[in-house]
Amino acid sequence: MVSPSLLSILAAVAAVARAANYDVNVGADGLNFTPASVSDAVQGDTITFRFSGMHSASESTLTDPCTKKSGGFDSGQLTGGTYQVTLNSTDPVWVYCNVGGHCRAGMVFAVNPGSNLAAFQAAAQGQTVSSTGSTGGSSTGSASSAHTSSTGSSGGGSGGGYGSPGAASRSSSSSSAFWVLAGTLLGVAAL
Ligand SMILES: *[C@@H]1O[C@H](CO)[C@@H](O)[C@H](O)[C@H]1NC(C)=O
Repeated sequence: MVSPSLLSILAAVAAVARAANYDVNVGADGLNFTPASVSDAVQGDTITFRFSGMHSASESTLTDPCTKKSGGFDSGQLTGGTYQVTLNSTDPVWVYCNVGGHCRAGMVFAVNPGSNLAAFQAAAQGQTVSSTGSTGGSSTGSASSAHTSSTGSSGGGSGGGYGSPGAASRSSSSSSAFWVLAGTLLGVAAL
């Protein structure tokens, strides 16, 4: 017997458990965001930018990577600390550093870029790259974020061959945490 109130508790637990945070270092490894992208992020997930040196996390567009998107978010130029954004959808989000020539040096970051990460990075550097299609390159695993693991990726990869650091994939730990919590609650309900 599962009561309606228990079901609502489980739904709330599930909603919390599904939200993931992705830590992204800004400038800790030269003129780079690390990891260079995250994939499989969903609405409600958060991106926490962690600053080293003077940089920004400013939203742009795929076609104009080094220009602020109208109405887009912008951390402003920070020399330390963090700036967090909450995702409103699963749509791609394109980000650059607006300090000096950093974007033109390739200092960009993307959420859910699909097969367009390499094209975005190239456009930031004033180059053009023909789209390589969506076959997905090799899965590049080693991300530095504590919340990332290479399991659970549906295999999109980040389009290999451009030399970018690995794309972080959504961690599967949050969903297993959900089942542990759900199992605990059901166990309590059965008493
Ligand atoms: C989500 O929406 C809010 C309110 O419109 C906005 O401030 C924020 O920048 C959006 N987040 C992203 C990642 O675009």
